[in-house]
Amino acid sequence: MSQRILLLPGDGIGPEVIREAEKILVQVISRFKLDLQLETALLGGAAIDSEGIPLPDSTLKLANQADAILLGAVGGPKWDEIDRSIRPEKGLLGLRSGLQLFGNLRPAITFPQLADASSLKKELVAGLDLLIVRELTGGIYFGEPRGIRELKNGEKQGFNTYVYSESEIERIGRVAFDAARKRDGRLCSVDKANVLEVTVLWREVMDRLGREYKDVQLSHMYVDNAAMQLIREPKQFDVMVTGNMFGDILSDAAAMLTGSIGMLPSASLDINGKGMYEPCHGSAPDIAGQNKANPLAAILSCAMMMRYSLGLEQVALTIEKAVEQTLDEGYRTVDIFSDGYKKVSTSEMGDAVSSILSSI
Ligand code: IPM
Ligand code: MG
Repeated sequence: MSQRILLLPGDGIGPEVIREAEKILVQVISRFKLDLQLETALLGGAAIDSEGIPLPDSTLKLANQADAILLGAVGGPKWDEIDRSIRPEKGLLGLRSGLQLFGNLRPAITFPQLADASSLKKELVAGLDLLIVRELTGGIYFGEPRGIRELKNGEKQGFNTYVYSESEIERIGRVAFDAARKRDGRLCSVDKANVLEVTVLWREVMDRLGREYKDVQLSHMYVDNAAMQLIREPKQFDVMVTGNMFGDILSDAAAMLTGSIGMLPSASLDINGKGMYEPCHGSAPDIAGQNKANPLAAILSCAMMMRYSLGLEQVALTIEKAVEQTLDEGYRTVDIFSDGYKKVSTSEMGDAVSSILSSI
């Protein structure tokens, strides 16, 4: 029976980059004779506009049935004033938690061709290969109670709850330890155990797992220091594991080390390896609809999908090789452009990858 891939272009530059990724998917399906079926559904602002809610039942149903999902991005100023309970982001968070996609892998790899594009000195980032493992369905993003309430004196008070249970910490820990084992064998767990009890427990569970994974070298770091170390000496890290909110913040910082957030793919996996794949860049409303966005993160997300959910390592490697050669040949979207290179649009970048892919 054929496997099903669900495309969720979403908002902003989402549809533009997913269009290019889809070209590449169609191409590898025919080239490698893959039995994969592509479907498309609405999510985020696009779904609000047509159905009134960010995650329609029909989308959730297709997502449940799919073997893997490719998401563009959600959100934008058009929906900023909307009721908080149906903001576009709720669609994304609902999918993550509805499908129990707790394991978020965010690699930050500096392609040698782009070391100059980073805002850090070239020698600090050249050769960087870091993996951030972020817990994605718990922590302060989902903790209850939450809300904005009125105090007796009439003043408003906002509140959220930062909670993690042992089992939640353990399952993300295992994802990270397993990943470290396949890489350089070093894992840094990031917490705020000097202040927050929830992360005292986090550290305890990581230590317990560390005794089981004796071949992995485990260290701990407070999140404020981790932010500083990422900028000071990023190559000291191999794998970092952290909770939902710290991971959100640190992964944006790590993205800039690589030259452009437009290069970074990500995977969000459930316990069985089913996954949703998305570029890390978000909807970038300022450049939406201008054919300017970098589609490489979306294309590299397809490679991650082949590797992690479909077990097609050879296809993943071929896509990654095509992207590298495209950079070698000097194609650059505006976010990674500098003098001497070929400035291309979103669709021209997709076409370049596609034509190089057909030649390798
Ligand atoms: C991310 C994004 C999301 C998050 C938003 C869009 C809800 O920033 O994937 O990093 O905070 O998780
Ligand atoms: Mg983020």
